[in-house]
Amino acid sequence: MRQAGRYLPEYRDLKAKHGFLKMIRTPDLAVEASLQPVRRFAFDAAILFSDILVIPEALGLGYTFRDEGGIAMERRLENRAMIDALAPESAVPDRLYYVAEALGLLKKELGGTRALLGFGGSPWTLATYMVEGGSSEDFARVKALFYEDRGAFDLLLGKLTASLIAYFQMQIRAGADAIQIFDSWGGAVAGPDYEAASLRWIRAIVAAMPQGFPIIIFGKGTGSHLLDQAFTGARVLSIDASNELTAVRRSLPENIAVQGNLDPVILNTTPEIARRETVRLLESLRGTAGHIFNLGHGILPQAKIECVEAMVGAVTSWG
Ligand code: CP3
Repeated sequence: MRQAGRYLPEYRDLKAKHGFLKMIRTPDLAVEASLQPVRRFAFDAAILFSDILVIPEALGLGYTFRDEGGIAMERRLENRAMIDALAPESAVPDRLYYVAEALGLLKKELGGTRALLGFGGSPWTLATYMVEGGSSEDFARVKALFYEDRGAFDLLLGKLTASLIAYFQMQIRAGADAIQIFDSWGGAVAGPDYEAASLRWIRAIVAAMPQGFPIIIFGKGTGSHLLDQAFTGARVLSIDASNELTAVRRSLPENIAVQGNLDPVILNTTPEIARRETVRLLESLRGTAGHIFNLGHGILPQAKIECVEAMVGAVTSWG
C-alpha cells in the first residue's frame, strides 16, 4: 500500500534528485526507496519499489505522470491492430530484468528479517490504463471494447495474463516471498461481468504459480466478489477500507487470510486517532485467525509520520 511515497522526506529527496522512472529502473535506487520505510518503521514486510505500469511499458506503451495528478500513457490502444503491434509477452522478463535485480539485492539487504513482497497489476486494471490512455473517471473506452469487440478484449487480456505469469515467475525466482495482485479498478466493472472482465484472468495467473506459493489479491470495490476471489487459489485477500472486516472474516473460508483494512485517510489525522482506530480494528478481529494488518488502500502524500508511527506501535504492542 505504497510504503514509499511523498509522505516521506527522504523519498521526496531521492525523487527530486533522480525522478520516479529512473528510480524504478535503477536497482540500487529502487532498493533504497524500498528500504526507506523499513528503516523508519517496524514493518514485518517490505514491498519492492516499482509500479504496476512497468508491464504496459515493457509491451511498448510507456507512461508518465500528469501535472494535475494521475497517469498519462504514451498513446491509447484503439483497435485490434494496435494490440497486435504490442511487443510479444516473451520480451517481458528481459525488459524488466532490472526488477529481478532489485529484488535480489533487497533479499540480501533484508537478510530474512522481513518478508519481501513482489507485485503487479491485474490484467483488467492494466488494460484500463492502456485502453483509456491513462487514469480514467468512467472507463468508457475499455468497457466499450469489452462489450463491442470481445475478441480484441480477450486478445489484450490474454497477452497481459501471459506477461504477468512470466513476470511473477521471474519475481519468485529472484526471491519474492509473496506476490500481491492489484485489481485496483475491479470495482468499476458491472457486477455480473466481473468474472469475464477481470477474475478469470487473475485465476489463470494464480493457477500458473508454483503450488502453494502465497498470492494476495487486492480488489478495490470488489466486496461482492470476495468469495469468488477466495476460490481462485489465492491464500490472502486484501480488503479495501469500505468493507467491515469482521463481516468479511466471517464470510470467508478459514484457510483464506484477510489483510487490511485501515482507511489511509486516518493517517492524515492525529497520532491519538491513528492509535485508537488501529486498536479498534485489531480488537474487532480478536480471537480470529489469519489477519494481516494493513491499510485499505494506498497511503496518501498528506499522511503524517507520527500517525504511521502510532499505527505501527499500536500493532506491535497489541496482544
Ligand atoms: O509501497 C510501495 O512503495 C510499493 C510500490 C508501488 C507503487 N505503486 C509506487 C508508486 C505499488 C505497489 C504501486 C501500485 C500501483 N501503481 C497501483 C495499484 C495500487 C493502487 O493504488 O490501487 C496503481 C493503480 C498504480 C499506478 C499509479 N502509480 C498511480 C495511479 C499513481 C499515482 C499518480 C498520481 O500522482 O496521481 C502512481 C504513482 C506511484 N507509484 C507513487 C508510488 C510511491 C507515488 C509517486 C510520487 O508521487 O512520488
